[in-house]
Amino acid sequence: MKTLSDHTIETPMGFIPKGLSTDEPAPVPELPEDFEEFDNFRDMMLLYSCAIREVNTKLENLDAELEMTGERNPIQYITHRVKTPASIMKKMKRKGIPLTFQNVWENLNDVAGVRVVCSYLEDIYELADVLLKQDDIRLIRMNDYIKNPKPSGYRSLHLVIETPVFLSEQKHMVRVEIQIRTIAMDFWASLEHQLRYKTDIEIPESIRRDLNDIADDMFSTDLKMSQINRRIQRISRVKHEAQELARKAQEAEKTGG
Ligand code: GTP
Ligand code: MG
Repeated sequence: MKTLSDHTIETPMGFIPKGLSTDEPAPVPELPEDFEEFDNFRDMMLLYSCAIREVNTKLENLDAELEMTGERNPIQYITHRVKTPASIMKKMKRKGIPLTFQNVWENLNDVAGVRVVCSYLEDIYELADVLLKQDDIRLIRMNDYIKNPKPSGYRSLHLVIETPVFLSEQKHMVRVEIQIRTIAMDFWASLEHQLRYKTDIEIPESIRRDLNDIADDMFSTDLKMSQINRRIQRISRVKHEAQELARKAQEAEKTGG
């Protein structure tokens, strides 16, 4: 029986470890012996991991630029993953779509996933804005689960974009799902995800309500932190302006002006 992890994709930076996944341990899903699309699948997974690298670089460059010009880092950290073959198969089955590479390419938006964790609420929108202004990025879908939280209380800004990947022969537009959120939203989403997936019980309504309340608390903390950040920036600006005025006054005194 042929398995996906029998094969390794070699890239210059060794970006894709054995098993076609970036962060996760090598998955070993079993493919039917007559699975004829193996090479197409492998090529497609290479494109997804290249697209993640492209998006990562774009985000890191923007963070570096905003640090230089705005004296702050909007991005706390970035994580990424390529969906495992097992998880792709599961999702295609759930959607009732036959597992061909063409169908995966056309129907799944989140095989390549990037999660960006920002310091402040406003960083999320600023980052999305400057990223989407780049002329090689094509926006496919945007879901603002901050303005419209999910019933669970989940908040994040989701972008599905296409970014070009240049290989030796061809350029491909590759889809990537980018989730942008604050540290507080990430804290909530990570724990809520764990709670939901690490148990086989149905979460009772009272606990759902508590989780929803905590998500609201997190959001109000985000709003307060944003306010404090803006107040500090304002104080810092006033201080610099005062220093600049004092410097100019001193210069004028020296030159007798
Ligand atoms: P999927 O088929 O689940 O991918 O749905 P979709 O394509 O409509 O995507 P959606 O915009 O609902 O976002 C799906 C992703 O957002 C999930 O894979 C999670 O990473 C995240 N997400 C959405 N809702 C929740 C939630 O209630 N809790 C947590 N922890 N994460 C969520
Ligand atoms: Mg999804």
